Parts: sequence; structure tokens; C-alpha cells
Amino acid sequence: MKVILAKTAGFCFGVKRAVETVYKQVGKGNIYTFGPIIHNEEVVKDLENKGVKVINSEQELLTISEGTVIIRSHGATKQIYDILEQKGVNYVDATCPFVKKIHKIVSEYSKNGYEIVIIGNDSHPEVEGIKGWCNSKVTVIENTKEALEYTNRNNQKVCIVSQTTFNYNKFKDLVEIISKKGYDIIVLNTICSATEERQTEARRVASQVEAMIVIGDKHSSNTQKLFEICNDECENTYYIQTLDDLDTQSLQFFGSVGITAGASTPNNIIEEVHSNVRNEF
Ligand code: F3S
Repeated sequence: MKVILAKTAGFCFGVKRAVETVYKQVGKGNIYTFGPIIHNEEVVKDLENKGVKVINSEQELLTISEGTVIIRSHGATKQIYDILEQKGVNYVDATCPFVKKIHKIVSEYSKNGYEIVIIGNDSHPEVEGIKGWCNSKVTVIENTKEALEYTNRNNQKVCIVSQTTFNYNKFKDLVEIISKKGYDIIVLNTICSATEERQTEARRVASQVEAMIVIGDKHSSNTQKLFEICNDECENTYYIQTLDDLDTQSLQFFGSVGITAGASTPNNIIEEVHSNVRNEF
């Protein structure tokens, strides 16, 4: 059987860096992450077993007075950094540099009299973090209805940025709707290419094989999206969290199998599935 493992399967650069940061801190006193480090139960459980605790809210953060807090790749609001500084709590900032760049953009533009529009999902932690760096009015737009409804009553200049994982075509469409309103706008495409590259490769691999395996946490939205993309190309697409979920019997009938994985799937899980599929057949 031919087995193709997608090169872009698994952690993107920002997630890899954040997870490695936490593992490097293990054993150096009390370690906390502000929010789960990634959407992957296996990794979060493993870290918990090593003593890493997850802080889930600002209130909880206020109760911490020692140890080290790690800020995950999604980033956090400026207020979180201020709390840590005021309390004198040690912290390591593992915010992805691509997200950090958006914080810098919105902070500078809002200081210079622009109002900010973020194209993204309002309840996503990355967007919550970005909002927390704006010093002026900020609006989050996720769909056509919200773009059509958007008004800039003060007729201020508008700076538009995007959540890093937003779909580029959707971003373009929403920007076009806002552009037609005649405001003075500047558009900064802050979409990270890692997601798009992974999706493009997954689509290509899925179109070349008889069966496709997508590995990732059931709650990971980027893995769900990968599954949809692969399923459109290959009707025998399997969504698994770990090797235990894989029904190897059903793979026996296929001459070729592709494997990809979401951005929060650790390499050891991908490797385990890959070598098992290769060795079994
Ligand atoms: Fe960073 Fe892009 Fe990953 S923004 S966290 S490298 S998807």
C-alpha cells in the first residue's frame, strides 16, 4: 500500500514554539498556562501530569502570586500583561510572532486616530487578545451581515486586520463590502499562511488516495475544517484523535492512504499512526 504523509501535518511554527516553551519550564517551580496551551487533550493531560496548571480567567490569574505564567500562542490582552507586571509574577510570552505583529499594528493605528476592524471570530481567544491592544473603537466582523451593518459614525480612518487563521477568500469578500462604504481605510492582511498551506496540501493528498486519515482533537476547529476538505476529495476519510481510534481492518481494502493532522496534533501521535499504517500493510 502506498502511504503519503502530508509535510504540513501537525504543529505550525507558533504552536510548536509555545508547546516547547512549556515543556522547557517543567520542573522549574509552579508553572501555569493562561488558557490551555493547545486544543489537544493528550498534550494538556500530559502537562497536567507534569504539574502544569491551566488558568482559565483573569480572576484566577489575580490569585496567583508566585511561579511562572506562560502566555500561549494565541496571545493575550494588554491587561493580562499589566496584571502580571503589577503582581510581579514571572511570565514567559509564547505569543506567536505573527499574532504579536497584529497587537503592534492595532496598538499603533488606534493611537494614531484609526478605529479598528478585526475580521475574525469575536469569541476566539486570539481575537479577544487583539481587542485588548486597541486604544480606540474596535469592531469584530465575521460574516457578510456584520460587514453590511458596519458603520463608522465618527467618520474616522479605519484600519482593518484579520485573525491569523481566517479564510482568505472570505476576508477579501468582507473587505470589499466595507470598502464600498467610502471610508478612509487601510487594509492589512494578517492571515498566517500556515493554515492555508496545510489545507492546500491536505486537499491535494486527499485527491490522490483511496483513503485519507485526519488526526486531531475532536474540539479542534482547524482539524474539523481539514476533515471537511479531505472528505470532499476522498469519500473514505477517517477522523481520529489517536491510533486507538483507527479501524485498521477497513484500511486493508485500499491501495493508497494519505495522512494529515491539525495544527494542534503532536508529532508523536502522527508518527505512531504513520508507522502503524506503513507496517500493517
Ligand atoms: Fe502562528 Fe500561524 Fe500558527 S499565526 S500560531 S504560525 S497558524
